Amino acid sequence: MDDVARVILAIGSQEVAEEVLHLLDRSGRARVVATAADDRQLAEAVRQLEPDAVVAEPAIAAAGVGSATLLALATRESVASLRAAIGAGAQGFYVWPQERQALLGRVLALAAARRVPERRATVVAVHAARGGAGCTFVATHLAQAVARRGRSCLLVECDPLFADLTQALGFADQEVRTIADLIPVGDELTVEHVDGIRVHHDSGFGVLLGCEAAQTDAVEDDLLRTVVGLAAASADVVVAHVPRHLSVLTRWCLDQSDRVVEVLSLDVLSFRAASRAFEILAPHGLDDRVGLVVNRAARSEITASDVRRVFGREPLVVVPFDGAAVRLQDHGRLSPPRGRVGRAFDRLAGTMLQAPAEAAEVAS
Ligand SMILES: Nc1ncnc2c1ncn2[C@@H]1O[C@H](COP(=O)(O)OP(=O)(O)O)[C@@H](O)[C@H]1O
Ligand SMILES: [Mg+2]
Repeated sequence: MDDVARVILAIGSQEVAEEVLHLLDRSGRARVVATAADDRQLAEAVRQLEPDAVVAEPAIAAAGVGSATLLALATRESVASLRAAIGAGAQGFYVWPQERQALLGRVLALAAARRVPERRATVVAVHAARGGAGCTFVATHLAQAVARRGRSCLLVECDPLFADLTQALGFADQEVRTIADLIPVGDELTVEHVDGIRVHHDSGFGVLLGCEAAQTDAVEDDLLRTVVGLAAASADVVVAHVPRHLSVLTRWCLDQSDRVVEVLSLDVLSFRAASRAFEILAPHGLDDRVGLVVNRAARSEITASDVRRVFGREPLVVVPFDGAAVRLQDHGRLSPPRGRVGRAFDRLAGTMLQAPAEAAEVAS
């Protein structure tokens, strides 16, 4: 696979643009495919060329760069340019020329990500906008249910900050391999490296676990992106356990996913949180991929039919409240697959293994 990152430059100063172009071209792993002098040229070039990255002055990139990685460049650091960079969704900010090596490193990491082999997995992201709604519960039980249906399943910790999977799956007291073990490999990550840190769960699925709290700062977003990409090349189904916070990385995970499971509990704050998340995520165009899972459903003022009224769609499944769930999860164990909870997850797994269009039909 081509491991050269395709880059568009959008820098007003001709002189700086040329210097950046030489720096990237000399690396042999990045190719400048176009330069743009203003926002209109940039929008057109992004649309036509679908680059991996755009290196731009913040002001020029204000309109956004689609799915490309935006790296902001300025000849001096000012509050205004930092603000503009954040507003445009930049994933890095570099002062030229002082931070040229950091910029180059970032572009080379993107080049390495292009080496990721062909995806074969259905990638399912599990998200809950309201803390405690059951993101971790749903992700772990979905992985169990997928494995029971005979598909190879890899559950990936995309929330390394809290790494709840480690506790929920009973690995907290064990000496296990984690994503942090991949840090020394750097840009050369392969499927074999990812296989090497895969931890087997007794329910028949693999897990890529988060690391110790002290190591989380060293786990960069680019590493996780590469890991998700490699995971998708090595299993039938990847379940991505994504953080509540809609960070750049969370959004990337959602963008990459074939299916997004939004977990709701039957309370006002959960409905409100999910509505806000959908509003914030609207520009990502996830609508066709999102399915709702109602979790912890007991008798409550809000009912599953309110889900249809508020969100305009049926939940994919309703997982009942299970009095044993908290204790089991606290002890790192999963609810048995044959109980009421288990059956709900079996249905969910079935839906995830269908094409999105079929599943939507079943749900409507
Ligand atoms: N269906 C359920 N019935 C009863 N308790 C549940 C259920 N799902 C999750 N829980 C419990 O609710 C708490 C929050 O779930 P968790 O998956 O950790 O939420 P999140 O990851 O969204 O913060 C946990 O203690 C968990 O055991
Ligand atoms: Mg959690």
